[in-house]
Amino acid sequence: MKINKNLQPISISIIVFVGILFITTINACAPTKAIAAKSGVQLWSENCQRCHNTPSPSTFSPEIWETVGMHMQTRALITENERDKIVDFLKSAR
Ligand code: HEC
Repeated sequence: MKINKNLQPISISIIVFVGILFITTINACAPTKAIAAKSGVQLWSENCQRCHNTPSPSTFSPEIWETVGMHMQTRALITENERDKIVDFLKSAR
């Protein structure tokens, strides 16, 4: 089978392009994974003192922390998963 010599550089370019695209896509997931792996205490210290003093876990009962969590999720613009981790920490560390 004869391969058209003029087409070879184009094929190589396509392979390189797809390779770069693949590597960039894989790398783009790294920061997201690092954020998803954060613990409740980490998320609490990073998010809950942006607007006011960080409330200590002993400030409220576990039931009240659930409500505060829902309230502050809308203020802090955090995900449901992040809120659950923070609330779990606040309920456990008392
Ligand atoms: C974007 C700013 C902002 C962030 C971030 C924030 N808060 Fe608040 N927080 C407020 C404001 C404003 C109030 C006063 C009540 C209101 O107007 O909503 C408040 C009130 C509170 C209160 C008083 C009880 C209540 O529900 O009103 C607690 C407790 C509290 N925040 C805890 C937290 C925790 C825990 C986090 C982290 C998940 C957090 N906050 C993140 C703005 C913020």
